[in-house]
Amino acid sequence: MKYSSLKISTEKAKSILLELYNIQGNASPLPGEVDFNFKIKRENEDGYVLKISRPDEDENYLDLHQRILQFIEAGNSDLIAPKVITDKKGNAISTFTDDSGNKRMVRLLTWISGRTCNSVNPKLDDLRFSLGAQCGRVTAVLQGFDHQEVHRESDWDIAQGLWTKTRTNLFDDEKREFIEYFQNQFESRLEGYNSIRKSVIHNDANDYNVIVSSHLVHPKVTALIDYGDSIRTQIINDVAITCAYAIMNHNDPLDAALPIVKGYHSTFPLTEEELSHLYNAIAMRLVISVTKSTLNKIKEPDNEYLLISEKPAWELLKKWRLISADFACYSFRQACGYSPHPDHDKFRKWSTANNFEVSKLFPTVQRNNIHHIDMSVSSKWIGHEKEFNDLDAFQFKIDRLQCEHPNTVIAGGYLEPRSVYTSSEYDKTGNSGRESRTIHLGIDFWLPAHTPVHALFDGEVVTAVNDAGDKEYGGLVILKHTVGDLVFFTLYGHNTVKSALQHKVGDIIKKGDKIAELGNYPENGNWAPHLHFQVMLSMLNYKIDFPGVAFYNQIEVWKSICPNPNLLFKSEALEPIKSITNEDLIHYRKQHLGKSLSLQYKVPLNMVRGAGQYLIDQYGQKYLDTVNNVAHVGHEHFNVVKAGQEQMALLNTNSRYLHENINALAKELLKTLPPQLDVLHFVNSGSEANELAIRMVKTCTGQRDIIASEVGYHGNSNMCIDISSYKFDGMGGKGAPEHTHIFPLPDAFRGKYRGENTGAQYASEVQKQIEIIRKKGRGVGAFIIEPIICCGGQIELPEGFLTKSYEYIRAVGGLCISDEVHTGCGRMGKTFWGFQLHNVVPDIVTIGKPLGNGHPLAAVACTKAVVEKFDNGMEYFSTFGGNPVSCAIGKEVLRIVKRENLQDNALSVGEFLKTELKTLAKTYPIIGDVRGQGLFLGIELTDTELNPLKEQTDYLANRMKDHGILMSIDGPDLNVLKIKPPLVFSMDNARELIFYLEKILAEDFMTANL
Ligand SMILES: Cc1ncc(COP(=O)(O)O)c(C=O)c1O
Repeated sequence: MKYSSLKISTEKAKSILLELYNIQGNASPLPGEVDFNFKIKRENEDGYVLKISRPDEDENYLDLHQRILQFIEAGNSDLIAPKVITDKKGNAISTFTDDSGNKRMVRLLTWISGRTCNSVNPKLDDLRFSLGAQCGRVTAVLQGFDHQEVHRESDWDIAQGLWTKTRTNLFDDEKREFIEYFQNQFESRLEGYNSIRKSVIHNDANDYNVIVSSHLVHPKVTALIDYGDSIRTQIINDVAITCAYAIMNHNDPLDAALPIVKGYHSTFPLTEEELSHLYNAIAMRLVISVTKSTLNKIKEPDNEYLLISEKPAWELLKKWRLISADFACYSFRQACGYSPHPDHDKFRKWSTANNFEVSKLFPTVQRNNIHHIDMSVSSKWIGHEKEFNDLDAFQFKIDRLQCEHPNTVIAGGYLEPRSVYTSSEYDKTGNSGRESRTIHLGIDFWLPAHTPVHALFDGEVVTAVNDAGDKEYGGLVILKHTVGDLVFFTLYGHNTVKSALQHKVGDIIKKGDKIAELGNYPENGNWAPHLHFQVMLSMLNYKIDFPGVAFYNQIEVWKSICPNPNLLFKSEALEPIKSITNEDLIHYRKQHLGKSLSLQYKVPLNMVRGAGQYLIDQYGQKYLDTVNNVAHVGHEHFNVVKAGQEQMALLNTNSRYLHENINALAKELLKTLPPQLDVLHFVNSGSEANELAIRMVKTCTGQRDIIASEVGYHGNSNMCIDISSYKFDGMGGKGAPEHTHIFPLPDAFRGKYRGENTGAQYASEVQKQIEIIRKKGRGVGAFIIEPIICCGGQIELPEGFLTKSYEYIRAVGGLCISDEVHTGCGRMGKTFWGFQLHNVVPDIVTIGKPLGNGHPLAAVACTKAVVEKFDNGMEYFSTFGGNPVSCAIGKEVLRIVKRENLQDNALSVGEFLKTELKTLAKTYPIIGDVRGQGLFLGIELTDTELNPLKEQTDYLANRMKDHGILMSIDGPDLNVLKIKPPLVFSMDNARELIFYLEKILAEDFMTANL
């Protein structure tokens, strides 16, 4: 029968409703695989769902559906589920005859308000937890329910899923291989599976059957609907089905499944045995799903609903295959509070009861004392990434450490978060962006090449290979040990290839036998010589290799699979160092640091290392930094660090002595400035630079009145605050002081004058302030402004504004200051300084943040005319300003900008970003404006009436952080996202930024009510 001829029109649905139930309402069609469903709306009521069956529908089956709902209602639990509405005659199932003369059965259920899960974006862990919890609750309520139909045969029942074996001929070779693999896995554990708990379960928690609360942020599952697939089967199948649907379209499906399992377990506790079947059950459900879709496609090629989940089901099956079934099981166990590896305690007990010595591992060394080495991400001993990767230098440091601690073995590293694994092999894209493998699972013993490694206990060789490649194991041996009913493995990495390959799989190694010899680089995987020693309770799916480092979010599972090797040696010095927690840091800060200091992000971050455009937290997680224009040439640029370290080792003193560094920095800086600006003073901060600039103004002009922009910020000193509307017009401020004159923010998007050609209008506002000053009988001291107003929300000055304003100011004898604290040193892309975008030459330029790349260094550049007048006999002295260390650093920063073409990079990456952002704005009108120059951009979020969207901006920045991308917010209405990364920000970084911006712009909170 053709699907189209069975269809029921909405008009027909309405008349059926009136006729059978005496209810009037508006009908709209809903999706459904079997029934024809309509939403019935009535004023001031949640409404109903009308379900009309196909002509050949089995009444028993519908009876099950109705009785299950009546059972739930009678149970008086707080579970929300549809209620059965009987027809005029009191029947739970009603009937009518359709136009083709077929008897059709009809049911009416109450409508559950909320939205179905398919419309929720994003679906995060807390939603998946509540999904699991809701499904568990349903199973709990259904305990004791029975009906003859729940014992029916069903293609969708995982327990009956092996029917798919007869249909593998439908698939091509590649697909068939996948299907058969999982069928065989399922079949191989059938006996145990058949004996686990059964009950009636919902059996179909797909997105369309899951009702979610209306919250836009962190919504929760409130109910399940459509109990039509309920069946009596293994309870774990319900978890499996829920997972199979909810983890589709995720980069890391296992990670997505864990909150569901945890949620289920919280309301309906699952047993260890049940969890051991979950991986296979999920796979089997997917096998059923793709087989059914293929069959249904043949039957009803015009029914699109059947195709909905086919493609993602295949993708998931392929990803599922790559996940070790054991690892999945241990992860499920961990989610449910069981010891992830079932033998962990057994190993702990055995190893605690026995003593093993390091000297037996290395009998030629004969030392048991350990000197703990800190190789963690925050280790100062490790130093710069480049130093670690210089293996000769690293070995030299190890040798020196060994000399300082002669009778010890240098060792450590279990569960240490490390940032030394920089190859992309160690990274993956998880469900929220980039994740790095950083957690070290073994202990490293740093001993010379060719040190022999001996067996602590009897074992059998399971791996003896050359694991070649950079930062791999080199010569690798893995032994299997059996002690009573305990089986475990030990891994020996970074040996000579020859010594590893002398073994064959199956060889027996006796306690005390030599296993291998430590290798040297590069054959040992390109490391300074050391042994990586690891204990494993399972080999998972690994044959020739086994991870030595794990992802931080899986640490609990990995530390159970790979117990602490120090359980064998019991050395205090081998224990992982307990690092200070973020809570401790926050607590202390709150007690003893100024209350007006702020912390970024709702959940603050603890950054311990910088590298180029990345910041790395204490767990080794890398964040892409789009905020930090201070780290101008990249966080901890090696040459900048070196320049500072080298000079620090020689001399650091004040500028009253001659020193070539101060001259060298001055020369480097003057090369970038117009010839008129040829005199420099060096200071320590942007505030100090502006403070000095204003002091110059007062001395040179004899005037104190300063004209500045609304929402401008120029520093934290008294004088700077006095000219910063951002501060005195903001929280805690008391408005403009007598000698400060503020003109409106020259914002052509949402300011006083809008659109193109507003330069003259805004300049006339500057002129108005000049007149106000003159009317008071005073003169103008200076006009200060940034070329792009950062705190104002990356406001680009309108064309012609600066030329005109400078003209007005100079006409009355005032000086013009360009605050280049943000915009200088090549960031603008087109020009080296911001004022050059406007073809003006200021009298004074203040330079800050980028000049020292994080080191406190700033400068004031001015004309000869200014400096002549400033030199009135009063000395200018700054204790630290222009010291040799700062100057060495500043000089290097300017050279790097040139050497690495960073100004060009700012231009090309900045232009690319601007174009992409403008394209995004077409799809997401919440982006009201995209502006800025080079790598100094702003994205302003507004509604269609140009009202600022502060909450959405905050949401976006916090969600970007969840995806490992740091962004900052500014503007008077806090609705502008700023992009001002280190200038090493690459095209790939820009693409990543756009990708995640787009992803989050599509989320419910961003799109609602627009
Ligand atoms: C435009 C501008 N000028 C001056 C300063 C003050 O610089 P510092 O914090 O180095 O004193 C800042 C600081 O953010 C600034 O944004």
